Amino acid sequence: MKKLVVYYSFEGNTAFIAKGIADSVGADLLELKLKSDPGHKGFMKYVWGGGQVMKREKPELYAIEKNPCDYDVIFIGTPVWAFTYAPALATFFSITKLKGKKIALFCCSGGGKGKTLEKMKAALEGNDFIGETDFIEPLKRNADQALEKAKQWAKGLN
Ligand SMILES: Cc1cc2nc3c(=O)[nH]c(=O)nc-3n(C[C@H](O)[C@H](O)[C@H](O)COP(=O)(O)O)c2cc1C
Repeated sequence: MKKLVVYYSFEGNTAFIAKGIADSVGADLLELKLKSDPGHKGFMKYVWGGGQVMKREKPELYAIEKNPCDYDVIFIGTPVWAFTYAPALATFFSITKLKGKKIALFCCSGGGKGKTLEKMKAALEGNDFIGETDFIEPLKRNADQALEKAKQWAKGLN
């Protein structure tokens, strides 16, 4: 079974978990990178990011270096933005149109994930969901514990 971990991360939390999952199950990694990432991490990030979510934007990504169609199992991770998945994922879903894959979902939030994972499932209709999990700002709180949780979760999925 070929495995891929796809993720977007603005401040490193989702990237941290994604890399742990890839390590634990021997998956390839695919980071989604925005062409328009403003770089600022202060309060304006909420205006910029929240605005993109509200307007249902699909921001342009740099070229995707791996073809998800070549993989059997795909882990997909996102930060929670305005109680849903980040707009980079909306772009990814619209350009890849995944069907018939085994999919495991994860997200990182500040503690209010809302219906993020349910919304991802709705956007990925036609796939087989094999697991889901979430984390609260692992880099700020409990990095080692969160990493172990991510690895065990990923290893336990079939
Ligand atoms: C634009 C924006 C919107 C956010 N909205 C939420 C939210 O609705 N609920 C929540 O719990 N955290 C929210 N957060 C916090 C992030 O989900 C959280 O810090 C997450 O760990 C970031 O992951 P990252 O480091 O991979 O970018 C938001 C952060 C940003 C930048």
